[in-house]
This record gives sequence, C-alpha cells and structure tokens, in this order.
Amino acid sequence: MFNNIDLFRKNKLLKNIIETDTPLMIYAIADLHLSLANPEKSMNVFRGWKDYIAKIRKNFGQTLQEGDTLVIAGDTSWGMSLEQSLADFHFLEAFPGRKILIKGNHDYFWTTKAKMQKFFSDNCLHSFEILHNNCIISEGFALCGTRGWINDGSEPFGQKMIRREAMRLETSLAEGEKTGLPALCFLHYPPLYAGNACEEILSVLKKFKTAKCYYGHIHDPQGHRHAFQGIYEGTRFRMISADYLDFAPLALNPEQTPQGKEGNAVHP
Ligand SMILES: [Fe+2]
Repeated sequence: MFNNIDLFRKNKLLKNIIETDTPLMIYAIADLHLSLANPEKSMNVFRGWKDYIAKIRKNFGQTLQEGDTLVIAGDTSWGMSLEQSLADFHFLEAFPGRKILIKGNHDYFWTTKAKMQKFFSDNCLHSFEILHNNCIISEGFALCGTRGWINDGSEPFGQKMIRREAMRLETSLAEGEKTGLPALCFLHYPPLYAGNACEEILSVLKKFKTAKCYYGHIHDPQGHRHAFQGIYEGTRFRMISADYLDFAPLALNPEQTPQGKEGNAVHP
C-alpha cells in the first residue's frame, strides 16, 4: 500500500526509467547555507562563495534526475524557523530527486521530526525526508547519520551533547545494520579535524565497521587544509562541504572525487 508521497515518487521514478533509462544515483553535499528570504545572511561576501546560489542552481540542475537521492548533511538554510526557511526549501524542491536532511549546527529551523514532516506536507514539499535517529534506504544502501560533534575548541565542550550524538549515530547505524545493506554514513561535524578526534563518535563508527563516512561544516581553503580525508581505523572519510565541492553534489555510486582531486590522506 502506497501513501500519496510514495505514489508521487513511484510515478516520477517510472517516468525516469521509461524516458531516460539512466541509473539512479546517490549524491551528497553539506552546508548549502541558503538564505533566499534573508539576503542579509548571504554567504556571497565570503571567500569562495561568490555567486554560490547561481552555482547551486546550475550544478544541481545539470546533475539531479528524477529518482536520484541527494543527502544534504546539515547547514541547509539560515532561516530561524521553518517559515523563514520556506523559500530555501522551495528552491531545493524544484530540483528532481529525494532530498535527505541531516541537522547542522546552524539549522535553527530544525524542530521535531513530526513538525517538520507536517510542515513539508502542508507546503507541498514532497521531496524531503529527515535522517535523525533512523536510516533511509536508497539504491541498495542504508543511509545513516547524525549531526555529530567536532572537537576543535570552537564549540562549548559538552559531554552530555557528545554522548547524545554518539547515541543517535548508534541508533541510526543499528537501524542500517538491520537492513542487511551496506551503510553510507553522514555527519555534519567531522569527527577528525586538525589533529583532534571525537573518540565517542569514532568508536561508534568502528563498532559498526562503517566503511564510508562523509562530513561537512569545514569552510574556506584554510579550513579545508586541516580536514582529514582518507582511511582511519577502517573508515574512509570524505569532506563534502559545498564550497569544497564548488557547489556541485558528489556522486557516491560510484564515488567520484570533486574536480578530480584526491583527498588529503594525512593521519590527524
Ligand atoms: Fe556547520
């Protein structure tokens, strides 16, 4: 039995298969920092962000097809409420494919899953799904993740918060494990950065033998230089911050490097 959203997706999917015969893809990106209704918060003034909305429009438009999945790993919109973020959600809704949202540290619109789902439904935003204490299946993968935590001194240290995020990650990866499918893990915060490690998050990744983990949050070439990309204790880490990817979603099946660049595989 399908509900309306399932039927909507199924019809679009069939249309894609019949008309284009193209494989369905999983893409990922983080930190879009949209602010269509709040131009004073535009990121245009920052290095590497000039005309970023135009770049997103062009790159998403050229890449996403009906039936594809796009994971947006946090910091999606500067809106302080769902209503203030509505224009940003409509902007994303216009592109084909499912959009999976993870919470970032600047997603002040984030509220309960039930309230967000109702808001999306009330505003004809049919392509959004929320990855929070759950897993979502796409193209033979279990998509798992949570906001996570960074241990770089920039956030107030809170053992309670770290433990909560580690528990959310464990819940999500456990749900993924039940599916029997390989997991792709998404975090907003990098658990490894500039020589620091968030052991609580890393131990959960290790426990579930997570092969691939993608994260955002890090901006500017100065910040990117300190990001860890490579394999650490069996998990391959990749940075998917929008400005690092030049605002083009990264294809995960098969994984492609942004602009042909290989990551900086340096032990933290
Ligand atoms: Fe962030």
